[in-house]
Amino acid sequence: MRLKNMKKAFKIAVDGPSGSGKSTIAKKVAKKLEIEYIDTGAMYRAVGYKMICEGISRGETNRIREILSRTEIDFRGTDIFLDGICISNKIRTPEVAKMASSFSALPEVREKLVELQRKMAGEKSIIMDGRDIGTNVLSDAEYKVFLTASIRERALRRWKEMKDKGEEISLKQVEDEMIQRDFNDATRTINPLRKAKGALEIDTTEMTIEEVVETIIQSIK
Ligand code: DC
Repeated sequence: MRLKNMKKAFKIAVDGPSGSGKSTIAKKVAKKLEIEYIDTGAMYRAVGYKMICEGISRGETNRIREILSRTEIDFRGTDIFLDGICISNKIRTPEVAKMASSFSALPEVREKLVELQRKMAGEKSIIMDGRDIGTNVLSDAEYKVFLTASIRERALRRWKEMKDKGEEISLKQVEDEMIQRDFNDATRTINPLRKAKGALEIDTTEMTIEEVVETIIQSIK
C-alpha cells in the first residue's frame, strides 16, 4: 500500500515502554508504507552519551544548558549522528540507557529535543516512536499506537538482544534495570510515558512482529 502517495501527509505516533517492540515495529511499518522513521529514544540516548563523554552529572544545570546549546543531533538513514559523528553503535548499552532515562526528565533536555523532533517531522509523512509522541510531540498525529508487553517478555527480548551482541548480563539484571527505567519514564513530571487519548493499544506479549505490523497497517487502512 502506498500511503505516501496520498495527497495529504500523515503522521503515526508510536509510544510504549522499553522492550515493547516500538522501534522494530515502527521501522517495518515505515518500510511498508515507504515513509520516514524517527527514533526519538536514540536522540535521548545521544544526549546521555554526550553527558557521559563530558563527565556531567544531572545537577549541573548551567553546564548542561551550555553543552546542549552546542549539541547537534541528526539522522542519516537509520544512523544517528552526534556533532557530525555516527554514534549508532555506541548508544545501545545499559550505561547509556540509564543516562538517557535520567537526563530525559530534565526540562532543558526535553525542550531542545522536542523542538528538534517537531522540526524533523516537518510536513511530510512519518512514523515516530518514543514515550510522549502521541501525547505531546505530535499530539495532532492522525494515527496513534500504544504498545505494551509484560515486563518478563520485554526483559527477555532486551536480554536476547544483548546476548546476541556478546554482552554478559543476567536476565534478572536486565529486568531490574527495566523496572527502574519504566518507573523513571512513567513518573517524571514533564511529559511522562502515557497512552494518548484515542491511541490503539496493542499488547505484543504473545504476538509476532509481523502480526503487530499488520494490525497497525490494517488500522490505518
Ligand atoms: O526507547 P529508548 O529505550 O531508546 O529510550 C531511551 C530513553 O529515552 C528512555 O529511558 C526514555 C527516554 N525517552 C523519552 O523520555 N522520550 C521519548 N520520546 C523517547 C525516549
